[in-house]
Formats: sequence, C-alpha cells, structure tokens
Amino acid sequence: MEKMIVELIGIMESVAAGNYSNDIMEYTRPEHPEPIRRLAEAMGMMMVKVEAREQRLENLVAELEVLNEQLQNNIIKTVCGIANALGARDRYTEGHGERVAEYAVRLARRMGLSEEEVQGILIGGLLHDVGKIGFSDRIFEHIDIRLPDDMREEIQRHPVIGAEIIKDLDFLGGAESYVLFHHERADGTGYPFGLRDEAIPQGARILAVADSFDAMTTDRSYQKGKTRDEAFAILRDLAGRGLSKELVELFIEEVLENGLPVSRERSPGAEAPRIPSDSAR
Ligand SMILES: [Fe+2]
Repeated sequence: MEKMIVELIGIMESVAAGNYSNDIMEYTRPEHPEPIRRLAEAMGMMMVKVEAREQRLENLVAELEVLNEQLQNNIIKTVCGIANALGARDRYTEGHGERVAEYAVRLARRMGLSEEEVQGILIGGLLHDVGKIGFSDRIFEHIDIRLPDDMREEIQRHPVIGAEIIKDLDFLGGAESYVLFHHERADGTGYPFGLRDEAIPQGARILAVADSFDAMTTDRSYQKGKTRDEAFAILRDLAGRGLSKELVELFIEEVLENGLPVSRERSPGAEAPRIPSDSAR
C-alpha cells in the first residue's frame, strides 16, 4: 500500500507538471485497495476536468487571435479605403500606394529583413501618402512642375498629417515613422524635418526608393511617366545625393530580375511611358 501511495504521488507530480497520461487509471482497477481506487478515481476525474478547461482556454486564445487579426485587417482596410479615396480625388495616384508597397516589400525581402519588418513596410507603403487626403483641389489640378511656395508648404505637410491619422493604431509596427519620414533624404534636403543619413529609419529609406521609382514611371498631372531604364538612371543619380546607393542598386537588381508589378507591365508594342521629375510629390 505504501509503495502504491508513493507511485500515486509520482503520478500526481507528473500531472502537476502538465503531463496528462493515463497511468493513474491503472490504480482504479478492482484488485487495488479501496482507498487507493478512490484516490485514483478522484485524481483521474480532476485531471480530465483540468485538461478540458485547458483545451477550452487554448481554443479561446486561438479564437481571440483570429478575431484580433481580422480586426487589425479591417482597420487596415478602412485606413486603406481612406487612402484609396485619394484615387477619387487624383486619378494620377490611383494604385500608387499598392505599387509602392509591392516594390518596398520586394526590396525589404531582398535585403533579408524579418517578416515583421516586412509587414510594417507593407503597411507603410500602402499608407505613405494617406496625409494627401487633406490636399486642396488646386494641388490636384496644378499641372506645372514648379510650385508656388504656399502650395509647396501644403504638400510638404502630408507626411505629418498621414502619421497623425494612423498614430493611434499601435499594431502598425514601424509604419507610422515610415509614413512620417518617407520624404526625408540622406543629404538633408528632404522634408518635413531635413533629417540626414541613419537618422532616417530604414523602412522610410526603402519607401523613398520605391516611391521615387513609381512616381517617375507613372503619368502625373504635371508630367508624363519615364521608362523603366530612364527611371533607373535617375535613381542612380539620386543615389549619390538623397537616396541610399546600396538600396537603389538592390532595387534595380530586384526589378531587373523579377519585373514590374503586373499593373505596371506594358503590353508589347504599347507606347513607352515617358518623362517626369526625379522625386515623388
Ligand atoms: Fe508622399
């Protein structure tokens, strides 16, 4: 009997450590003394209940994780809806956020960044220009590459406005800072703060390359889009000034190897898109 009690204690300790084996059932058989049987039955019952509760808790946590992910996706879709409303105001920027996000994600993956960092860059790309939603109509209607000072100031506020719009969405990772700093340039000529070099977050530097390339290869109200190779040449020129040389070369490698996004591929024989400025407004 004493030996059995010692064995039962061992099984109880094992159960307490989370090992829900059926060893205890051995002691519920009729040939064992009644106190041992009752102890084993009570413990077996307790084990079944604890295991069932643990299973239920695990299911609830899994359900919560799914719901949380759905909630986050819905919030991102809602904010993207706001960003896409830009397309209704400015047909030239329709699809720009998605393309910048795709270019930036491809570049980030090529750099070997973690999937968590890539997700932040994806969201930053989709939302980088969300602050343009507040632009006055005259900016969308302006066709001259030169801008009056007051209009330039209004344009240069969009990173701050964009970051303000998404600042409370704390699950967006680095996206808020990427939105805020996507027009900063390594030589200090960017806006809104004129940051330099490493003071600009890596995700924002990635977005800057992707944003510049898409802006150059897309028709805008103030310019016609350049060809891929013309845009590469301008990116390389900018690499000596505001953009990261290393990122520009990796980006060019990526596009040469894996092509443009499907929406940017021109059908054979189609007229070559032509001519804009070097940087995204
Ligand atoms: Fe922008």
